Amino acid sequence: MTQSKNEFSQQQLLERVNSVKIADGNPRVRALVARVVTDLFKAIDDMDVTPDEFWAATDWLARLGASGQVGLITAGLGFDRLLDIRLDEADAKAGIAAGTPRAIEGPLYVAGAPLSKGEAVLDDDSTLLGTGKVLVMEGQVLDHEGKPVAHALMDVWHCNEKGGYSHFFPGMKDFELRRKIETDAQGNYRFRTTLAPGYAIPPNSPTSELFEALGRHGHRPAHIHFHVVAEGKRTLTTQINIPGDTYIDDDFAFATRDGLVLSIEHGVAPTGYESLGVKAPVERAKFNFVMQKAVSDSDTDPRTRMERVQS
Ligand code: DHB
Ligand code: FE
Repeated sequence: MTQSKNEFSQQQLLERVNSVKIADGNPRVRALVARVVTDLFKAIDDMDVTPDEFWAATDWLARLGASGQVGLITAGLGFDRLLDIRLDEADAKAGIAAGTPRAIEGPLYVAGAPLSKGEAVLDDDSTLLGTGKVLVMEGQVLDHEGKPVAHALMDVWHCNEKGGYSHFFPGMKDFELRRKIETDAQGNYRFRTTLAPGYAIPPNSPTSELFEALGRHGHRPAHIHFHVVAEGKRTLTTQINIPGDTYIDDDFAFATRDGLVLSIEHGVAPTGYESLGVKAPVERAKFNFVMQKAVSDSDTDPRTRMERVQS
């Protein structure tokens, strides 16, 4: 009896999918796809996935991609934090865990923010409603020995009171609430902004659809993103949080970290902050960023996560 070449059991189909080739292809991609396909075949069988469930999932993925929200889902399902945990583990193993903790970049960085030296006003051209609080944040960028890092380049970005990030949210100006600050000769930076209470995933979107089905909220505590680059230093991607926020310990993106929650002074006199346009008492936070020594070329790569893979 001859064995048919075109009738398969599940296992035979899987082996065929994972072995068929006319060229070597990319061995890493082959190995990863084989693993994922194997795991998905198994999940479909174990969970008795129906054709309707399978095609609904592909429809959702197509809508997710079309809406530009893939990066929202990766954060909400913990993948962004997972990658940080793995990098932290590698640092601990290598004995180089130090400095300001990393925190997820998030999907909402935009390159090309206006550059200024020493200080910046993030909210001067804003379409903000004015319901947020004016915050001055200041400090130094330091190296692993506590020495100031002069001319470090710090990208800063955050959302408005509606959870909107410029470029992604309709009605906002091009680089609203986004700036790049070059630290001065003593490593100092400072900026003023109006900080919104928090962020929520867009309603009526593929992302909110999934989180509703999971019975989960889509809120993030108020946060500010940073991407800091300096010669010979490991590029630092992190975020800070505001203490007391409702979602500080319940971030949908799992990105809050010890050591990144600011101490805020209230009602600080505007004296000395005139160049930031501060006229009335403000909230102030002092925070130093401590960069690590670079140990590889990849460490000093100034690019953000998507710039690294897209260029
Ligand atoms: C998401 C939003 C953010 O502001 C962020 O920093 C990370 C993730 C999100 O919507 O997934
Ligand atoms: Fe964010």
